[in-house]
Amino acid sequence: MGLLAAGFFPLFARSHKKGYTHPVRAITLKLRSRSALSCMPTKRFYSVLFFILCFSLLAATAQTNNQDAESHPWWQHAVFYEIYPRSFADSNNDGIGDLNGIASKLDYLKNLGVDAIWISPCFPSPQVDFGYDVSDYENIDPMYGTLADFDHLQKDASQHGIHIILDFVLNHTSDQHPWFLDSKSSRTSAQRDWYIWRDGKGPGQPPNNWLSDFGGSAWQFDSTANQYYYHYFYPQQPDLNWRNPEVKDAMFDVTRWWYKRGVSGFRLDAVDTLFEDPNLHDNPVLPGKNAFGDAREINKYNDKLPEVHDVLRGLRNIADQYNAVLIGETWTNDIAELNRYYGHNHDELQLPMDFLFTMVNKLSPAEFRKQIAAVNSASGWPTFVISNHDIVRSYDRYGDAVHDDQIAKLMAGLYLTLRGTPIIYYGEEIGMKTTPPTRKEDVKDPIGRRGWPKEKGRDGERTPMQWDESTNAGFSKAKPWLPVPPTYKTHNVADESKDPNSVLSFYRSVLKLRHTNQALLDGDYVPLNEDDQKVLSYLRLYKDQAVLVVLNMSGVWQKVGFDLSKHGFSSANPLIATEKSSVHHGSGGGNVVTLGPYGVFIGQLSK
Ligand code: GLC
Repeated sequence: MGLLAAGFFPLFARSHKKGYTHPVRAITLKLRSRSALSCMPTKRFYSVLFFILCFSLLAATAQTNNQDAESHPWWQHAVFYEIYPRSFADSNNDGIGDLNGIASKLDYLKNLGVDAIWISPCFPSPQVDFGYDVSDYENIDPMYGTLADFDHLQKDASQHGIHIILDFVLNHTSDQHPWFLDSKSSRTSAQRDWYIWRDGKGPGQPPNNWLSDFGGSAWQFDSTANQYYYHYFYPQQPDLNWRNPEVKDAMFDVTRWWYKRGVSGFRLDAVDTLFEDPNLHDNPVLPGKNAFGDAREINKYNDKLPEVHDVLRGLRNIADQYNAVLIGETWTNDIAELNRYYGHNHDELQLPMDFLFTMVNKLSPAEFRKQIAAVNSASGWPTFVISNHDIVRSYDRYGDAVHDDQIAKLMAGLYLTLRGTPIIYYGEEIGMKTTPPTRKEDVKDPIGRRGWPKEKGRDGERTPMQWDESTNAGFSKAKPWLPVPPTYKTHNVADESKDPNSVLSFYRSVLKLRHTNQALLDGDYVPLNEDDQKVLSYLRLYKDQAVLVVLNMSGVWQKVGFDLSKHGFSSANPLIATEKSSVHHGSGGGNVVTLGPYGVFIGQLSK
């Protein structure tokens, strides 16, 4: 099922619009035997021995720490951050963000607590789908800079301890890619079979009933050789034929090319849709129409075909040679499906994204509990996202227009303290708001023009990053490609950096804690008070250390009691608490946490 069919764009039923939507290796110090010691000189010897012992212990501790870190792949402890490059920072003042702009913000990212940036596609592209239509996989689009700028960014990021993840659009290319230009040139061209060409059923009739996720038939007639080609997304995004080994080899080589340039992994775009039924069976049709006025279909024959797993295993094999990570845009319906993307032998994606978590579109402890438990039962390490460039921002999905900033902190308190790797979408950390266009003529995202007014497209969640209160929010001196939301006056990096109670300051403190707290890094997720309908509480438990997280998902004061003694602890001591949240210790491991509306309490447990 594709993005749209899965209901992730505003128009669909499950839409995300407001209201919808180590082991520690023991170091054995070998002490000399008593008999050996007894024949040694006395005082001086013991002081030397004491010194050696202290030194050895220190060295052992340091080594233990290293081993601890080394026993986890880097991406498990890393905090990822998605950058939509058009909208992040514009260094050459043409109204569109660029790579040098990103490089200029590395200090900001480091200071926030980011360890890896995923840059949405920055390769040469006609920009029909803003970079998700790639015309050259081994270069940088001039609007974003040059390969030299990329190398500079890569080097600089690496000096900041930040990994670079690129967005690999592997389902389709641009219709301007030389592969496709050759493919369409004749029925016998060398690359004809690199794409999916078929004869129509009859004059003016596409080969079958498959629909594009972006509206209309998924088949585009091309008069050069009188055949149709298949496109899951826009007609300018023809699907590659992954059944052709040459396609596979060429695309695998693309990943090697970037790994050799220093990238640390890829976010794999639209992996669900790589394969189609070669017999082109019609998809089952459901009653009703979608926002584009098309019939509603179940994508039975062009989505999640099992062949994708061979490709993922191949990509993983290469990734492993470079200690790289593969993140998947995986629109799964349940955890069984998610498990398939980890691979039976943990040999596919390390981080398939769990979008089911984003489908919890209300502040419901029960719903979140269910989803967190589900993903914790998955066969691999969880990944948490609450928004991205295709999804209405969390600020709007969960906000109540009264406590919005507090709710933004609440959500940070949730996804940044769970067991798993979080991916922050740029701007979430300052409480950016989705700001969709109000007039059809202002819409940039083609699906918004096609589906207006039911589908306004994805411009709203792609607006320029709000750096400060100056013109264009400090994003660019030129008119930005999308308007800066009016909220930049109240929500921007510069002002929020000065305010200890801002959303940004909250993100910084949680991320700082997360990087240093073993329980938050590695601890098990242990749900608490599972019947509570207002407050979501859990422990992160690692050996004899534990952190208690208490999240008030209601707009009224809450008092929650915890019996910590059954987990071997007596009291919770605040590490991070939003104003008004506090804890009172009772006797015998009883603790009462008091939380203001949408309050957060994170505490270290002690014995
Ligand atoms: C993915 C991207 C989306 C894009 C689509 C087609 O879903 O996240 O932005 O439009 O693929 O490439």
